[in-house]
Amino acid sequence: MNVPFVDLKAQYQTIKPEMDAAIEEIISNTAFIGGKAVRTFEEEFAAYLGVPHCVGVANGTEAIEIALRALGVGPGDEVIVPANTFIATSEAVTSAGATVVLADSDPDYYTLDPEDFRRKITPRTKAVIPVHLYGQPADMDAITAIAREHDLLVIEDTSQAQGARYKGRRVGSIGDAGTFSFYPGKNLGAYGDAGAIVFRDAAAAQFARTYAGHGSIVKYHHIMEGRNSRLDGLQAAVLTVKLRHLDAWSDARRRNAALYTELLADIDGVTAPKIADYAEPVFHLYVIRLADRENVQNRLAERGISTAIHYPISIPSLEAYRHLGHAASDFPVANGQMGEILSLPMYPELTPEMIRYTVAELREAVAASNLVGQ
Ligand SMILES: Cc1ncc(COP(=O)(O)O)c(C=O)c1O
Repeated sequence: MNVPFVDLKAQYQTIKPEMDAAIEEIISNTAFIGGKAVRTFEEEFAAYLGVPHCVGVANGTEAIEIALRALGVGPGDEVIVPANTFIATSEAVTSAGATVVLADSDPDYYTLDPEDFRRKITPRTKAVIPVHLYGQPADMDAITAIAREHDLLVIEDTSQAQGARYKGRRVGSIGDAGTFSFYPGKNLGAYGDAGAIVFRDAAAAQFARTYAGHGSIVKYHHIMEGRNSRLDGLQAAVLTVKLRHLDAWSDARRRNAALYTELLADIDGVTAPKIADYAEPVFHLYVIRLADRENVQNRLAERGISTAIHYPISIPSLEAYRHLGHAASDFPVANGQMGEILSLPMYPELTPEMIRYTVAELREAVAASNLVGQ
């Protein structure tokens, strides 16, 4: 049996008539940049999250950078970012002219450790970016309480957790801003690059919209130098269609995760993801931990099962951040987990048979690697 890591074609097949009609409409109307489709998506996504303002942008990395700029974060400011995330989170801080400061992960949930966040605060700290990694909400009450104590802004990087809830509230709607990537493989994925920022504050949203549109709202009336970071009409139409299905897809992901967790329970040496009592996760990724990962991963590949690692190198250990001068021991949790984490195939269309096959092969692979290890 072949179990791909993601299968975007399978999803397209389930929504083909409505998707084709939506795309056809954009092409017929040549509404490629701006226009009704973009406004419709922004309004529907804001309503879905329960926030007043949504600004569509070109991708999830620029969403973070523009959110920082809109909230007044820039040169001279430090921004705290988790050690375990995709580089986009920290890259965006540097692009906004601010300084990246890294904090360790929670040992159970992989998200930002609130206590290490607290330890990293200095008089120059201006903001924190919790990442709802793998679709698991970060501990927002703990993080926002510390942020409030120190008068810090909270920007939620929600690229991996569209639709997840923290104590009943959609993540992305809790902090001063929520940023989203709609990269095609995300839970809510476009058919190209796309992103969005949500705000509670109207002035911040207005700044972001202006900045992302070459510094103008009224054409050719540029009130500042901005940049081109637009959500295009085709992507907005694709996202509007998919948004209607997102909750059903999240339910399917949770069902798939529950089946994995049930089947993995009696495999010694494999740690399944834990769900915090505050969280309704959306399992963008289903990440297990195990020893001898490389052999297990190779064996699964031989049996037609694709897996991945998110991420093989922590942010402070990347070549790109060598100048920060960190030792591996500075981030014991994140760095300890890097060598053990393995992402199993996860998407709504994954069948129970595929999950059973994956776990059966994983069981064999772990047993084989234990034998070699003896
Ligand atoms: C946590 C996180 N932040 C930011 C991004 C950046 O998004 P994009 O690729 O749309 O720029 C991604 C995904 O790629 C991500 O996973």
